[in-house]
Amino acid sequence: MISRSTIDRVFESARVEEVIGEFVQLKKAGSNFKGLSPFTDEKSPSFMVSPVKQIWKDFSTGKGGNSVSFLMEHEHYTYPEALRWLAKKYNIEIEETEQTSEEKAQMNERESMFLVSNFAKDYFHDVMLNSNKGKAIGLSYFKERGFTDKTIKKFELGYCIDEWDNFTKAALTKGYDLKYLASTGLTIVKENKQFDRFKGRVMFPIHSMSGRILGFGGRILTADKKAAKYLNSPESDIYHKSKILYGIYQAKKEIAKQDNCFLVEGYTDVISFHQSGIENVVASSGTALTSDQIRLVNRLTKNITVLFDGDAAGIRASIRGIDLILEQGMNVKVVQFPDGEDPDSFAKSHSDNELKEYLESSAQDFINFKVSLLLKEAKNDPIKKAGLIRDIVSSISKIPDAIQREVYVQECARIMDISERVLFSELAQLLKKGIQEKSKKSHQPKQDPNQPPPEYFMEQEQAQMGLVKGGSISSKKVDQLSILEKEIIRILLLFGNEEVDFIEEITNVDEEGKETISVRKYQNLVSAEIYLHLQEDEIEFTNPLFQEIYIEMIHQLNQSEKLEVDRLVNHENPDISSIVTSILMDEEKHQLSDWEGQNIEVKSALEVLDKLVNDSVFNLRRVLIGKKIEELMLEVSKEPSKSIDLEIVKNYTGLKMRLFEKLNRVV
Ligand code: CTP
Ligand code: MN
Repeated sequence: MISRSTIDRVFESARVEEVIGEFVQLKKAGSNFKGLSPFTDEKSPSFMVSPVKQIWKDFSTGKGGNSVSFLMEHEHYTYPEALRWLAKKYNIEIEETEQTSEEKAQMNERESMFLVSNFAKDYFHDVMLNSNKGKAIGLSYFKERGFTDKTIKKFELGYCIDEWDNFTKAALTKGYDLKYLASTGLTIVKENKQFDRFKGRVMFPIHSMSGRILGFGGRILTADKKAAKYLNSPESDIYHKSKILYGIYQAKKEIAKQDNCFLVEGYTDVISFHQSGIENVVASSGTALTSDQIRLVNRLTKNITVLFDGDAAGIRASIRGIDLILEQGMNVKVVQFPDGEDPDSFAKSHSDNELKEYLESSAQDFINFKVSLLLKEAKNDPIKKAGLIRDIVSSISKIPDAIQREVYVQECARIMDISERVLFSELAQLLKKGIQEKSKKSHQPKQDPNQPPPEYFMEQEQAQMGLVKGGSISSKKVDQLSILEKEIIRILLLFGNEEVDFIEEITNVDEEGKETISVRKYQNLVSAEIYLHLQEDEIEFTNPLFQEIYIEMIHQLNQSEKLEVDRLVNHENPDISSIVTSILMDEEKHQLSDWEGQNIEVKSALEVLDKLVNDSVFNLRRVLIGKKIEELMLEVSKEPSKSIDLEIVKNYTGLKMRLFEKLNRVV
């Protein structure tokens, strides 16, 4: 682990405008910089960098954050990778925290495996380009397949000479430990003898998303029917077949840019596509697709186009895996190649434009594709057709979005010529089962603060499907709460350190029971004032992320009597950093076009800060009380004998009325 003090030093040294300046052309605009979004193909700038706040925001995609999050978004680095990149740029020595000796050993183990894999990649590549055997056998094989020098370099293709231990010897001479040659599977060790696993094969190095070498695929050159055509690295601490997509490193930028990813089967399919000018392509390497692999793509785009070889046999098996893609809320299209062709051969026998044209014109929505495929099989067999309906509806039920599901149901009803009602009732049953299963599972997905919590969708869905007959607390309330909570966080972030005059109303009751209201004026920090109110009512935020941010702010306030927004911007929890920068940068939005307007608005916000604070706190209280009332009403409706609760409801309602009055009175 990188030590806290190194992380702090990285954040102190990194200048967001310098970091981003390496990837995006920035122009000074007032106190900020602006430029074209690196995430879209836009013509007018919507990308903004604030040197003062040390944050950036891309208004065309809504992304934003600090230097680290920029590198994570743009280069698709992990958090530690981004820190290391910055440390290198700013010449900061990385200090690792103390690890247990076991952790250290494990780290060193993996690190050593990466090192030897990287050496192997360079060695195989170098041998192929520069040795006689390499040129005569390996290189000429790739040339025969039509791969250019540029392609061979780009994918760092190589050759392992057909001798027992040519590579192993070279590695040992260079000082690499046999232990790691064995654990990566590059060398097979048997009874004190060692030989190269990949001897006589051309080599396809397999990169991680960030470009490290995880393992290899090696293709045999002879037509030997007994030996496997491809040999892959064995499972190890660094090579997990089910979590790897071949080509993801070379494709990631283009996938994000095109907002689509082509999924093929083979190494050569990926490489041929690149050579034909299509770079947003990855391969599952001939195995059934896994959720982990889909998640890799999901980080870059919501759209996948699966390419099927011409032979129909494979398709039936592969379409099962596609439900996994639907489950992750991604949009799936499929393209089928003509009989006997795979993406590689098709790309070779057609021009770049023909290939592009073919992909565009024959891409079919997955559900439609599946329906027509199965329909062909079922034809006039009613039993088969019943099975087919269940099969299709099962795929549709995997789609998380209710509206999209409905569209598909209508579409399928039309194609299959059956009533929508039948499909909907089948779907309702499956969903109900799915929801029950889901609620059994303890793992909840991480929540996006900009989205209502998952229960919201669940209730909506159930309501839509007629599974819930009114009753539970309205989900709109939950949503409304999140918005109000966000507003309070926003006020704290922007104005937390401002000192403002507040007015307090004191209600006095005299001996005859007459009420008089007097007014007291006092000065307070905005943050302290909000803290006071929320603490008084023991209010906790329902959104866990907002609650975490709030707690952190209160902690700062207690320690140094002011808010340190920087610490939140650079928070180690990327969700916090992201929501905080997004709130901060929204203030700058109008700067992109209208430079004057901004000052005026900020000034006016400052002038009415006391009202802003009061209103937002009151509003939050009001909604919370409303929620409380609803909860109580629900209980009463279930058990009417509980008359006592009605009294409480009345009290709460009175409280709500008074809050409303106050809300309108305080200026
Ligand atoms: N594969 C494998 N082991 C095998 C055969 C195939 O791991 N014995 C994987 C490889 O990743 C291969 C993919 O499955 O790229 C697709 O297999 P196939 O279509 O047979 O190979 P191609 O990619 O078409 O390879 P080539 O064009 O070189 O024949
Ligand atoms: Mn092929």
